Amino acid sequence: MSKENKNTIKVDVKELNLWYGENHAVHNISVPLYENKITALIGPSGCGKSTFLRCLNRMNDLISIVKIDGSVVIDKKNIYDKDVDEVSVRKRVGMVFQQPNPFPKSIYDNVAYAPLKHSIVKKGKACDELVEKSLRDAGLWEEVKNKLNDPGTSLSGGQQQRLCIARTIAVKPEVILMDEPTSALDPISTEKIEALMLELKKKYTIIIVTHNMQQAARIADYTAFFHLGKMIEYDETETIFVNPSNKKTEDYITGRFG
Ligand SMILES: Nc1ncnc2c1ncn2[C@@H]1O[C@H](COP(=O)(O)OP(=O)(O)OP(=O)(O)O)[C@@H](O)[C@H]1O
Ligand SMILES: [Mg+2]
Repeated sequence: MSKENKNTIKVDVKELNLWYGENHAVHNISVPLYENKITALIGPSGCGKSTFLRCLNRMNDLISIVKIDGSVVIDKKNIYDKDVDEVSVRKRVGMVFQQPNPFPKSIYDNVAYAPLKHSIVKKGKACDELVEKSLRDAGLWEEVKNKLNDPGTSLSGGQQQRLCIARTIAVKPEVILMDEPTSALDPISTEKIEALMLELKKKYTIIIVTHNMQQAARIADYTAFFHLGKMIEYDETETIFVNPSNKKTEDYITGRFG
């Protein structure tokens, strides 16, 4: 795993298709997702961004009418191979959702729950240290260090979202998926999460869905534009925003539809 090579492919998606029953929601998408980079997925509502994102950690397996073909290769192994256990995939590929969704547990337990369950740490000092490290890395430690036993739900929305990020990184994932992680947050919390993402990409591969074009332009290294289940254009973020090659991309980023 070469961290120096700025173009190491971490997740290699090839000819990915997904159907919800008869609805062909993801059309033949191939895209390299680079290690230690942020890739943004943009496009109008219903174009398949969340569906595509959920394919990257097999979350769609939970939906009975879904049929998927194609491959999602992470470190040379297709996560859809029969011998791959989807629980282990979801541990390696963490997810943060639009609405902050802490467990109805204390701040401490929100972070400690999964590492204890996966036997990453034992109760006690090692667990305390992991909780502190995860909360620090999520930029939340200073705000919660004196009230770790308070319920996670007692925090503000922006703090809850950082708690969810701490919970995600506590299991030491390699990839973090974020589906509109700031759309329910105020501008200050949004700024904090954006700054945090720029820190986190040093350690992780991040894929984010956003409706906020400025956000994609500010933080993403690469951007993919989706429309009607197809990936219309994918490139370095600057190219997508300054000099897109497809008319539909241009229309979307200039606000002509969507
Ligand atoms: N659980 C589901 N069961 C059946 N169809 C679904 C399901 N989730 C999404 N779809 C369909 O798949 C298509 C893509 O939806 P998806 O939620 O991926 O879009 P999106 O780009 O994330 O939209 P938004 O920006 O509004 O979140 C839509 O036609 C939607 O109706
Ligand atoms: Mg969505």
